[in-house]
Amino acid sequence: MKILMVCLGNICRSPLAEGILKSKLPSNFTVDSAGTINMHEGNAPDKRSVEVAVKNGLNISKQRSRHFQSQDLDEYDRIFCMDKNNLRDVLSLAESDEQRQKVSLLMNDLNLKQHPHEVPDPYWSGSEGFDQVYRQIDEACEIIAENLLKESFKIKP
Ligand code: 4NP
Repeated sequence: MKILMVCLGNICRSPLAEGILKSKLPSNFTVDSAGTINMHEGNAPDKRSVEVAVKNGLNISKQRSRHFQSQDLDEYDRIFCMDKNNLRDVLSLAESDEQRQKVSLLMNDLNLKQHPHEVPDPYWSGSEGFDQVYRQIDEACEIIAENLLKESFKIKP
């Protein structure tokens, strides 16, 4: 099972989502991340994302930003987008219903009523914005990991 986390720059939110989900799943799951713009291609995650990850016991510093590609829609089984703009950009590259069905908002269908359905872009905020985004992604990934594990047991009894 291959899961891709997508945001705009692939330096703030999706590297956190990649690290957090990976930490909740066994190693036979592949978790990767990408951005809908190529502006930060090859760059390490934003210092503030690296810091909030370290505060929570995760090391995401070795990740490198990469641009989302249309082949990702074939390569990955699930693609989670951080906000509605990312979702629109990813869906604009989809060419079949099979590809479209793999794509959703990270916060969709989680019954997290206290949260909006998007993970807000923390790029222009201070470190408190990154703390909030971390908590939000962590809560979503907890439920996503649980569901993926249940599903994988169903596929391989
Ligand atoms: P991300 O945050 O999409 O969570 O990685 C951003 C990173 C870079 C920019 C905007 C948002 N930017 O405008 O360069």
